[in-house]
Amino acid sequence: MKLNVKMYRYKPGSEPHYDTFPVEVPDTGNVLDAIERAWADHDMSIMFRHACHHASCGSCGLLVNDQEKLPCVTPVKDYGEGATLKIDPMRNMPVITDLAVDASPIYQRMQLIGMPIIRNAETLRPDGTEPLPNGVETFKRFENCLECGLCLSACPVMATDPQFLGPMALAAAERALAEPRGLDAERLYQLIDDEHGLWRCHSSFECTEACPYEVDPGAAIMRLKRKVAARKIKRLLGG
Ligand code: SF4
Ligand code: FES
Repeated sequence: MKLNVKMYRYKPGSEPHYDTFPVEVPDTGNVLDAIERAWADHDMSIMFRHACHHASCGSCGLLVNDQEKLPCVTPVKDYGEGATLKIDPMRNMPVITDLAVDASPIYQRMQLIGMPIIRNAETLRPDGTEPLPNGVETFKRFENCLECGLCLSACPVMATDPQFLGPMALAAAERALAEPRGLDAERLYQLIDDEHGLWRCHSSFECTEACPYEVDPGAAIMRLKRKVAARKIKRLLGG
């Protein structure tokens, strides 16, 4: 299949612009294959993130024709022969170069909730020799969530409040409060019931639309709102 890849380009110190590259990929290919062809056949200075190629690592998120996608599992046949794919970096995160954004807003938010992503090396004792008891199993991740950040990119509130906790972290908080497993629930309630927390969400459900897995952060935020409101009412009534 022949396609044109119209790609956002930015190198520090230069003006952002688009470059368009003609590419050819198998009909069964995905958008990431088209980006890789642009890189291999035209310009090896194109910077983009990817690792697993099968919707597992969460590293490749970007915009295809202004919609949040994991390009490794977005079929080119969705766009058709001869189509132009406009490729941009995710929104609401600083662009480092080309399609690579600074993903720290993703990890900082999971850290706040208490579900940080920890490198294996960080499970070692400070002297770097002995593993902590139970090793990496002592750390938890939010089941199902790839930490891809597509929901942060799609969220309209993130665009106006960069400190907003955002859909991924609020969905993780909802999960944690349903089953705290040792997390400090009171601290979590304080964190989410804050000016940059739960109540900033105005239920656009763009996050759920963007999520490539079944986290459904929009629904999780609605459940969390009900839970926090019920708790406040109970407290007011002296329960
Ligand atoms: S909630 Fe969905 S869109 Fe958001 S980071 Fe997790 S997997 Fe990605
Ligand atoms: S390359 Fe890993 S999720 Fe796309």
